[in-house]
Amino acid sequence: MKIMVVGGGGREHAIIKKLKENKNITEIFALPGNGGMAEDATLVNIGAKDIEAQVKFAVENKIDYAVVAPDDPLVLGAVDALTAAGISCFGPNKAAAIIEGSKVFSKNLMKKYNIPTAQYEVFSSKEDALKYLETAPIPTVIKADGLALGKGVIIAETREAAKEAVISMMEDKVFGDSGSTIVIEEFLTGPEVSVLSFTDGKTVIPMVSSQDHKRALDGDKGLNTGGMGTVAPNPYYTDEIAKECMETIFIPTINAMNSENRTFKGCLYFGLMLTEKGPKVIEYNCRFGDPETQVVLPLLESDLLTVMKATTNGTLAETEVKFSKGACACVVMASNGYPQKYESGYELKIGKDVADKVYVAGAKLDNGVLKTAGGRVLGVTDTGCDLKEALKKAYKNVESVTFENAFYRKDIGAKALKALEEN
Ligand code: AMP
Ligand code: GLY
Repeated sequence: MKIMVVGGGGREHAIIKKLKENKNITEIFALPGNGGMAEDATLVNIGAKDIEAQVKFAVENKIDYAVVAPDDPLVLGAVDALTAAGISCFGPNKAAAIIEGSKVFSKNLMKKYNIPTAQYEVFSSKEDALKYLETAPIPTVIKADGLALGKGVIIAETREAAKEAVISMMEDKVFGDSGSTIVIEEFLTGPEVSVLSFTDGKTVIPMVSSQDHKRALDGDKGLNTGGMGTVAPNPYYTDEIAKECMETIFIPTINAMNSENRTFKGCLYFGLMLTEKGPKVIEYNCRFGDPETQVVLPLLESDLLTVMKATTNGTLAETEVKFSKGACACVVMASNGYPQKYESGYELKIGKDVADKVYVAGAKLDNGVLKTAGGRVLGVTDTGCDLKEALKKAYKNVESVTFENAFYRKDIGAKALKALEEN
């Protein structure tokens, strides 16, 4: 069987490594992938947003199943185009991917179907937004409507900062057209939980929960990043809370999308905040999270391809989706300076003993030599019978990876461990 995976980061590497456990798969193509996954997949120089070329490649190479992993091609309609060309694939169609593609859509959906989320107002006029901010509660949260590489959210601690955020999005267009319309919402507090789920539009099966670490530096200091490390499961996400989320958030969301004629199939990611008033949705993503996938998939005991196909075919209710009882940790190693200016092109050495546990995000092959080519270079992971063991092993594995200018957080999972001790 021939599989193609669209995307080129650590998440895609984790998906590819998991798929490879299925012995019926003869070849996996990564479009475009990255040099760090060359041993696991055949790299094809087609960009994640070049849908026309993806379809052509899939048809010409008689691809049996395609996995579209990143947000951009999903929101642009890659699944629709591939399906129309007769290629079976994993991921939501364009109509459903809007749940991530437009914050206004997702906020209005939650309001209409009583799904708990932060209070909000939508603005398409800068003047109206600025006027609203005169009296809005502070801190407040300003969000660009469209995709903004995960950076379209500004938490403003003062009224001045809130106004600056509005001007930067609506006047200076720092996020392009994504910021033409904005959402201003209530600032919520509480532990954050990521819950990825498989769904075929009828059944929703949550995966093991996880916790991201968004800030660049230890102690949750420094700038926001794409994620500096993850742990699974998330200790704040108890069985009781999971049950509540199923009843008040997960099932209502699947039903709401059906009612809107936007049936969602694929991986629906719930970004949750556990507030004093119960769990609330911070964001939906129409895809696997990065770097959440790097800790969730290693704990999946069922065959990933079988589960993915069940979401496409509508047979998830009859499909076993089993996760191990253990834990997994991922430490992201980045280039010094990330998320701002950083240097690339340094030789990257990954010890053979840990290669299985490393998911490469930013690297390229230069005359056969693997070199760094991105801010977040890779994620080093490991599993254990509990979080403490998984973290100890993951940090030990970090010692087998070297490249110049590397930096990583030393406190991934520290909060989670503390929460476990307090319980
Ligand atoms: P997002 O890109 O929507 O995931 O937002 C990025 C981060 O901003 C989230 O992971 C939260 O930490 C934070 N955030 C987003 N919305 C809110 C909110 N309403 N209240 C507090 N923090 C928020
Ligand atoms: N880790 C957050 C995301 O994938 O959007």
